[in-house]
Amino acid sequence: MTDIDHLLDRLTLDEKVSLLTGQDFWSLPAIPHIGLRSLVMSDGPVGVRGTGWAPEDPSIALPSPTALAASWDPELAAEAGRLLGQEARRKGVHVVLGPTVNLHRTPLNGRHFECYSEDPLLTGEIAVGFVRGVQEHGVGTTVKHLVGNDFETDRMTVDVRIPERALRELYLAPFERVAEAGGWGVMSAYNAVNGESMAQNGRLQDEILKREWGFDGVVVSDWRAARDTVGAALGGLDIAMPAMDNPWGPALAEAVRSGQVPVEVIDDKVRRVLRLAARVGALDGFPAVTPPATVDGAAVAHRVAARSFVLARNDGVLPLAGRHLRVAVIGALAQDARVLGGGSAQVVPPHVISPLDGIRAVFDEVGYAIGADPRPFLPAAQGPEWSTFRIDLGTYRFEVPTAAVRWLGDPPGGLAVHDITQLELSTTYTPPVAGEHVFAISGFGTFELTVGDQKLYQGSLHPPGTGRADLLLHPREQRFTVTLPAGEPVAVTLRQSFEPGTAHSAGTTLGLRPPGPDADGLIAEAVALAARSDVAVVVVGTTEQVESEGFDRTSLALPGRQDELVARVAAVNPRTVVVVNAGSPVLLPWADEVAAVLLTWFPGQEAGAALAAVLLGEEEPGGRLPTTWPRREADCPVLAVEPRDGFLAYDEGVLIGYRGWKERPLYAFGSGLGYTTWAYDHLVVEADEAVVTLTNSGERAGREVVQIYLAPLQNGPVPRPERWLAGFAPVEAGPGETVTVRIRLPERAFQVWDDGWRTLPGRYAVTAAHALDDPRRTIEIEKKGSA
Ligand code: BGC
Repeated sequence: MTDIDHLLDRLTLDEKVSLLTGQDFWSLPAIPHIGLRSLVMSDGPVGVRGTGWAPEDPSIALPSPTALAASWDPELAAEAGRLLGQEARRKGVHVVLGPTVNLHRTPLNGRHFECYSEDPLLTGEIAVGFVRGVQEHGVGTTVKHLVGNDFETDRMTVDVRIPERALRELYLAPFERVAEAGGWGVMSAYNAVNGESMAQNGRLQDEILKREWGFDGVVVSDWRAARDTVGAALGGLDIAMPAMDNPWGPALAEAVRSGQVPVEVIDDKVRRVLRLAARVGALDGFPAVTPPATVDGAAVAHRVAARSFVLARNDGVLPLAGRHLRVAVIGALAQDARVLGGGSAQVVPPHVISPLDGIRAVFDEVGYAIGADPRPFLPAAQGPEWSTFRIDLGTYRFEVPTAAVRWLGDPPGGLAVHDITQLELSTTYTPPVAGEHVFAISGFGTFELTVGDQKLYQGSLHPPGTGRADLLLHPREQRFTVTLPAGEPVAVTLRQSFEPGTAHSAGTTLGLRPPGPDADGLIAEAVALAARSDVAVVVVGTTEQVESEGFDRTSLALPGRQDELVARVAAVNPRTVVVVNAGSPVLLPWADEVAAVLLTWFPGQEAGAALAAVLLGEEEPGGRLPTTWPRREADCPVLAVEPRDGFLAYDEGVLIGYRGWKERPLYAFGSGLGYTTWAYDHLVVEADEAVVTLTNSGERAGREVVQIYLAPLQNGPVPRPERWLAGFAPVEAGPGETVTVRIRLPERAFQVWDDGWRTLPGRYAVTAAHALDDPRRTIEIEKKGSA
């Protein structure tokens, strides 16, 4: 009998089921008499929020997962994972709820930024690196969301119909890879797959994940995904989260007593939870992991950002010639960068270096103009015109850097949900100019806004029939105009009241638009600034209303008048560098008319510092596209995210991403320029490895991602894509230096799912490439079949 079996024997049935049932928003109960502490979980892939979301307890914010994947560097992913493991330890968290390995089936997925790639191999390798890094700290992960959560529309109820071959070759592949590499957890999705809700999908969770792949970790439900006591128990789920609306607890014990669920099924789940507790150091008698050396979080965030930036176009303007240039920085997002995507992946970073701050720190002469503002809500008030933003929760007070406060789960200051009936945000504003000021409240709940002696609002931003979860993802806004004289301080107070017991989440922002030019005037101002500058850096991107968990995108176009802004700036300044701040592909209709395009994703808290270093050439933009960027939306092989009659069929089968592209895209999978050039000298295949020799043929040190693609040279019994990624490796070399890299070609790369994995024998072209559309060396090999 194992040690865990001994512990199991000492638990009553009620204790056993309590261990499978969330006790609050984020944790499982402790059972002191067996030496088990409470297991705490927390989102998510870019940082570890902790059990609250409070500004007093910030978390390092790494770039978005799309950015991490753009590094094509599993070792860097491990470094990111180690940082998150360290953050988790600091915050008392045992399990990080990530990484997200759903695929980029369509760029319209609202959560595209949170997933890695359209390619299952790249997704799996980045995920394995990340999981390894987190787990080195003795912190668990839950690779999520198993499976088919590749879009958000109706995600709680939709039945995703995935053909078996696509399921195996694409969607399950990253989960399989992480399970094989020793991941300790999986989160099951909200949706159903092929007729069965994932929280109770015995075929996928029990038969495939646990039995076929031998996964010995836990399967955690997505939050409120488990709805059926017996169905979930028999369908392979191990932990139902959170406490709210949980179908387990006493109901599960009852189902065991009445014989609907065998006790052996419960015992298997409890063993898995105890095994996890032992792995993460929450169970006495099991050795604790010695954590790796402490890393500097800001430095990791900076490194990931620079390595992820994809230089998609460069006429030679980058790197910029020096610090003495007069730089025009343009765009609302240059000042208020979107450093992370919306939804459960959000954290409160300790600071954010905006592109404007980063550029100002290194260039001598920097001008700034908003140009065009795509944000539909007024941004949180901040800046020198404001005194401190004080938050008063009755018995607890704290300050926030901008006029926004948000939490989910534990309220700030250790307060209990029931302790909070009111939130008061108070500050003083001194208008620099006289005129019409537009104040705004955004969030959800009941509010009262007072400016000076005027009460501007008293009412509810909570439409009847809307759930709080929905409001958290879709906050509402109200605006009020007040005329104020210049230089006279006015007190501003925003009060929010909570119904008893509802303060487990809050999201409140006080916005302000001071007097200034209208939309035409803003563009004119930016164009004038660009015309008198040596170089124009225009930052464009998406907003929280475009890319977020909870809904899908309706268009790939940049919101607002940003396209017009870029075109007009480029018309007056031939040295226009466009920085794209979006977590996923957007349309760039002016792409061929500007000097450079740098895709920076959601770049995390060190955004501006990494950007400045890359613009100046202190660092190379190291990224390669993990996903194809379209020239026109209609060219994307898959766009459908609207279920019909409750289901959505993946009729395209295995033809997603570059496997399904017919038109020439704007930027191909794997593409991205550096600041040097590479000559691919030689390619051979030795046993199961591609051996590539290449030379840095430029004048500075650089980094290249060597990509290996396979293409079958004759038709086999099963139709296959024209070519696919079989392996990759980043390499670095100094100017003139030659390096050799060995890249494993896994057997799986030659296989198809045909009622089982089958290697398809025959001749294959093996290509070493800079990008999918930039092959450098090709050889042919003969592959033998498998039985
Ligand atoms: C998301 C998960 C997340 C969970 C807890 C859900 O809505 O889909 O990815 O981990 O919430 O925040």
